[in-house]
Amino acid sequence: MRRKLGILISGRGSNMAALVEAAKAPDCPYEVALVASDKPEAEGLAWAASQGVATFAQSPKGMPKAEYEAKIDTALREAGVEAIALAGYMRLLSDDFVQAWRGRIVNIHPSLLPKYKGLDTHRRALVAGDLVAGCSVHVVTEELDAGEVLGQAEVRIEARDTPETLAERVLGEEHRLYPRVVAQWLAR
Ligand code: GRF
Repeated sequence: MRRKLGILISGRGSNMAALVEAAKAPDCPYEVALVASDKPEAEGLAWAASQGVATFAQSPKGMPKAEYEAKIDTALREAGVEAIALAGYMRLLSDDFVQAWRGRIVNIHPSLLPKYKGLDTHRRALVAGDLVAGCSVHVVTEELDAGEVLGQAEVRIEARDTPETLAERVLGEEHRLYPRVVAQWLAR
């Protein structure tokens, strides 16, 4: 039985798309049971629907965070989701949500954690004069970008790099890393 993965997105969802594409392989240990978003207009939602993947959108506007998260939680559970991958989901999950799904949420972050938690990672790597950047897949805990790192990919920083050119190369690695690490994580 393939494990049922739910993916949370807020925008273009290119990492979500990489996870969906990888799930087309017959030996992939997971299937994408739901793509959910806090942004009904998220580009990735329409793409996921075009691939025949179930989608769910709930704006958090005008409601308490707990109510918003309860709706997401219900949609995930109704879809039979066993594990969650965050893919450019731009909201902090509450401690209650993280505890309800403890050890069953992963995220992809565009830095070599524990370096550069939070935002603006590529500019910070360039300002620091780093020679290597990259991305990390980690378990989500109550503390931002601080859970166990399950896998990383490195990208060499070139002298002519800007945050944008670096982001583009790192994103390419994210698309290779995330499906591989999620598959290993769910197969264990
Ligand atoms: C990626 O850079 C990812 O590392 C970060 O948010 C961005 C999401 O991009 N968590 P996409 O929506 O998957 O294209």
